[in-house]
Amino acid sequence: MRAHEAGTLHADLGSNGPSWLRTPDDVNALVPILWPKTVTRAASGAIEVGGVDVHRLKEEHGTPAYILDESDFRDRCRNFRNAFGGAEVYYAGKAFIATAVVKILVEEGLSLDVCSGGELAVALRGGMPPERIGFHGNNKSVEELTAAVEAGVGRIIVDSFDEIERLTQIALKAGRRPRVMVRVTVGVEAHTHEFIATAHEDQKFGFSLAGGAAAEAVDKILADDVLELRGLHSHIGSQIFDASGFEVAARRLLSLQARVSEVHGRELPELDLGGGFGIAYTTQDQPADPHELAGDLLRIVKQECAALHLSVPHLSVEPGRAIVGPAVFTLYEVGTVKDVDGIRTFVSVDGGMSDNIRTALYDAAYSATVAGRASSEPPILARVVGKHCESGDIVVKDEFLPADVKAGDLLAVPGTGAYCRSMASNYNHVPRPPVVAVADGTARVIVRRETVDDLLRLDVG
Ligand code: LLP
Repeated sequence: MRAHEAGTLHADLGSNGPSWLRTPDDVNALVPILWPKTVTRAASGAIEVGGVDVHRLKEEHGTPAYILDESDFRDRCRNFRNAFGGAEVYYAGKAFIATAVVKILVEEGLSLDVCSGGELAVALRGGMPPERIGFHGNNKSVEELTAAVEAGVGRIIVDSFDEIERLTQIALKAGRRPRVMVRVTVGVEAHTHEFIATAHEDQKFGFSLAGGAAAEAVDKILADDVLELRGLHSHIGSQIFDASGFEVAARRLLSLQARVSEVHGRELPELDLGGGFGIAYTTQDQPADPHELAGDLLRIVKQECAALHLSVPHLSVEPGRAIVGPAVFTLYEVGTVKDVDGIRTFVSVDGGMSDNIRTALYDAAYSATVAGRASSEPPILARVVGKHCESGDIVVKDEFLPADVKAGDLLAVPGTGAYCRSMASNYNHVPRPPVVAVADGTARVIVRRETVDDLLRLDVG
C-alpha cells in the first residue's frame, strides 16, 4: 500500500508502468481490450471500425478526429445495466457528453450524472427525463441550483452546508421539495489496484464522516424538512480495478445509515457508490468485468445491511470512463518524423495536448498504432507528440511503431473516449476535433469540428 500524498494523485492515474515494457512482437496487432469491439484490420492493412475504413473517415471528416464505435458504446451501456440488475446506472457525463450521447443513454435505459449547468442543459436537450438526472458539484451556483429545481431533476447531491442553505431557500421560493443525497467523504482513496482507508479527509468534496459533518448534514436536512433526503453518496476515485475500496466505503456509508435509522427512526431509501471503474489504456491494465464488480458490490451491501439489521437500499453507481473510454479512438495524421540521434524518434501528429491533456496532466499511459496500413518493418521505439508549442505536448510517451512510419501515415490512439474531448482546449488556438460516431458502415458527426471562425466569434473588438 502506498500513501497518496497531495500532488502524487495525478501521477497515480497514469501509473500503469512504462508502456515501453510491452513486447514489440507485432507492431500491427490490435489487442482486443484496447480497441472498440468492431475494430479490425482489413486485408489492405487499414483499420476499419463499424465497417468504415480509416481512409474514408479521414477523407470525409479530416484529422484529428475522435471516432466513436456506436455499437461498442451501446454494448457497454447495456453491460453495466445488466450487470447491476435492479441498481440504477448513472452515466457520468463529465467523461464525455453531447446531445447525441444523451439520446443513446435514454434509448439504453441509463440515467445521467451531470456536474454543471452546462452539462444539465445538454442532458435536457438530449431528452433525458429530469427525474433520471443527478446533479453533482461542490460549488453549484444559485442559477444552476434554480435551473435544476425548475427542471425537476431527480436528485441533487449536496456537498456543503452553504449549499444546503442555498437550496433550501430556492426550494421554499419555488414551492418545491427537491430530492437530495448527501455526499459523504468516507476516508477511502482508491486508484488502480490500490486504496487507502485511513486518510483523504483532506479534500474539497463532501461532508466528512469521521469528523461528524456528514451526520450533522443529515440531521439538518431532516430537521428543516424542506428538502427530501433520499440517501447517502460517495465517490472514492478513478481507474479502480477491484471491489476492496468500494467495500470499505459501503461499510462506512451503511454505518451512517444505521445511525440515521437509530436517531431518526427512518431508513434512507437510496445509496450511491459513485464511479471510478477502471479500463485498459495499455496491455498492462486488466480491468475487472462489470458483472464481477457488480456482484461484489451487491453482495457487500446485502451482507452489511443484514449485519446492521437494515433493509437494503436502492443502489446506484456512476460509471463514466468504463462506458465511453474504450469505445473511442483518436485518428491523427503524422506530419513529421524526427529521429533525434541516439535518443528517440519523435512522431508528430496534427493534434496533441489540446485534444488529449491526460498524458501531460496525469502522466497517463496510452498506446498507438499506424492505422492506415500494415507494415513488415521492424519496430522502433517512438514518442508520439503533438503540434503545440510546449515540449510536454506528448500524446503517447513510448510506443513501438514500424521503422517506416512517415509523414502522411494515419495513426490511431485507443481509449480516448473519456476525459479527452471533455477536457479539450484551444491552446495555441487549435480548433477542437469533431466526434464521429460510426455504425453499420455509416459515419455521422455528433460533435462538429471547431473552426477558426468559431474561435474568432468570441473575440470582442
Ligand atoms: N461520480 C462522481 C461523483 C465523480 O466525481 C466522478 C469522476 C465519476 C462519478 C466518474 O468517474 P469515472 O467512472 O469516469 O472514473 N479527469 C480525470 C478524471 C476525473 C474524475 C472526476 N470524477 C481523468 O482524466 O482521469
